[in-house]
Order: sequence, then C-alpha cells, then structure tokens
Amino acid sequence: MTKIQTAGIAGTGICLPDQLITNDDLAQIIDTNDEWITKRTGIRERRWVEDGVNCSDLATGAGRQALANAGLKAEDLDLIVVGTISGDLVFPSVACQVQHNLGATCSAFDVSAACTGFLTAMQVASTHIAAGLAKNVLVIGTEALSRMLDKTDRGSAIIFGDGAGAAVLQPFDICKRGEILRSTLGADGSGHGLIAMPMGGTSHFHNMDSYVSDEHFIKLKGREVYRFAVHKMAELIRWAMEGIDEEDLCCVIPHQVNQRIIEGALDRLDWNQDKVMINIQRYGNTSAASVPIAFHEALEEGRLQEGKYVVLVAFGAGLTWGANLLRW
Ligand SMILES: CC(C)(COP(=O)(O)OP(=O)(O)OC[C@H]1O[C@@H](n2cnc3c(N)ncnc32)[C@H](O)[C@@H]1OP(=O)(O)O)[C@@H](O)C(=O)NCCC(=O)NCCS
Repeated sequence: MTKIQTAGIAGTGICLPDQLITNDDLAQIIDTNDEWITKRTGIRERRWVEDGVNCSDLATGAGRQALANAGLKAEDLDLIVVGTISGDLVFPSVACQVQHNLGATCSAFDVSAACTGFLTAMQVASTHIAAGLAKNVLVIGTEALSRMLDKTDRGSAIIFGDGAGAAVLQPFDICKRGEILRSTLGADGSGHGLIAMPMGGTSHFHNMDSYVSDEHFIKLKGREVYRFAVHKMAELIRWAMEGIDEEDLCCVIPHQVNQRIIEGALDRLDWNQDKVMINIQRYGNTSAASVPIAFHEALEEGRLQEGKYVVLVAFGAGLTWGANLLRW
C-alpha cells in the first residue's frame, strides 16, 4: 500500500503591529478597568494596527519570516492558504495580496473559519501535501479585528487584538520536523449567531442608512461562547491525547481565547498549566492568528522538544473547531 505523505513544519513566523493598547488605555474610552480585564480574561495588553497598516501587511510579514526560517524563497511556494475574517477587502482574498507582496506565483486563497482559521488552513495544506498536489505551502492566520470593534462596547472591545502568524508546511520526509500525525475539524452552524459581524455581507448590504448602523461591528454573546469554549477545548485536548502518554507531551498550544476558559478546560482534564502555552496577556484574542503566534513563540522559547508531542486546539465563530497532534 502507498504510504500517505504526512506534512511537517519547516518554519514559522509572526508579525505584530507596533501600536500597544493597554487595559488602562481602554479604561480611558470605556467603562472598564485593568483589574476587571486582567482578572476576567488574563489580558494585560494587545496590539492594534495603526493607520495605514492592513491585515495583509501583517500576513506578509509573518509569511516572510516563516519562509526565511524554512530556508525557502517565495518562488518555491506551491500554495498560500490564509485563515482570516478581517481581510483588507470583502474580496479578493488576503492570500492573493500576500502572494503579490512576496513575489510568489503559486495559487492562493483564504479560508473563513474565524478563530479556527489557521487550523483549517493547515488541514487544507496538509491534505494538498498528502495528495501530492503541493510540496511547499505557506499557511497564515492573520487578523486586524480592531477595525471591526465597537470601541464603546466593553463586552467585546477588551478582548480582541491584531496580529499574524505563519508556518511553512512541507512533506515530513523533507523537513523532518513537526510531523502532523492527526487532525480534526468540526462545525455547528446552530451557533451561527453567537459571534458575528453582520454588515458588509450581502444580507446586511450597504445603503445610505447603513453607514450610521452599529451592525458594522463584531457582535459577541460572550457568556454563551464561554460555556461552549470550555467544553470544546477540553474535548479537543482529550481527542488529541488519545493513546498518548502525558509524559510524552511537551506542549499544548490552545487558541488564546480567555485565560479563564483555558483554566476551566484544564480543570476538567485535571491538568495544570505547566505544558500549556499562554501568551494572551500580551496579545489578547487574535482569532486566526492566535495559535500560530503562540506556536512560534513556544518554538522560540524552546518549549517544543524533539520527539515529544505537541497539541494545537482552536474554536470560534461558526461555530467551528479543530485540533492537531504533532510530533516535534
Ligand atoms: C466576554 C467575557 C470576557 C465576559 O466575561 P464574563 O466573566 O463572562 O462577564 P459577564 O459578561 O458575565 O459580565 C459580568 C459583569 O461584568 C460586567 N462587565 C462586562 N464587561 C466588562 C468590562 N470590560 N469591564 C468591567 N465590567 C464588565 C458586566 O456588565 C456584568 O455586570 P453585571 O453583573 O452587573 O451585569 C467572557 O464571557 C469571554 O471571554 N467570553 C468568550 C470570548 C469570546 O467569545 N471570544 C471570541 C470567540 S473565540
């Protein structure tokens, strides 16, 4: 029988906006305070794009670094897949803009799976590699969600941050690192209304009145999402860890949704945080960018040990979710 070609991680990269927004900065514009935000979410600061910087600029920066770390050039790429819900335009895709910025000539498209965007893009990439359709794939999670926030809504404005993270996937036989052993994706469209951005699509289309509508902003039913997220994160980690000895795990890299949600999931698993990568205090929830940013930082911090397992989990609007088990 032909062996299925698994994918591995040849290189990673990140790009974050320079503009730092602290909890105290937010307290100047909304009725909130540093203590509440830190205690309820773990977030201390986040980055928001400055004027003139777009989602595709962050994606390009992260992609460039991932390519350099993989020892590849843009012309080596066979495919670019971008996970995002805050692209520069409704269409065309961020991926096509990135392709142009990098000087690549390969095919390029976006996937829309909100906070699960990067893991969805990874699965598209790894199945292309398994099918022999691509060898070098650039996968990016990128967001400029600050541009979609109602900065007067304390329920959502405090949570989200901007940034991008990227990984170059290659056949594992070539890169010999970060083999993706198993992956899952899922969705439950009955939760469609829990996190949404109504305006800009074709059901809430623009007319002269729409410009004063608050439907331009992200709508979040935080408490409902909270319950879903704790349950789903625990379930996904359990799925990824099936048959794996906890001793052989080096790092869990979860979507940085809310520190309390991560702790709630770990409580359910009866785990502590030792092997869990958490950087939400610095970046907030960067949606599709959160897992690849945390992944890159975990790698830079030396948390990924050769031969040990790494688990990635994410979930978000849709509702969508995904997980991967890798061996580093
Ligand atoms: C949004 C979220 C941080 C709110 O935290 P919470 O602990 O659930 O807080 P609640 O909404 O229950 O509000 C508790 C109280 O704090 C108040 N509050 C809400 N936001 C506040 C803020 N930024 N500052 C101060 N007080 C705030 C509420 O008005 C409420 O007051 P009340 O009890 O007098 O009514 C939390 O629900 C969350 O992280 N949800 C998931 C995030 C998410 O959806 N991410 C995107 C998808 S991955």
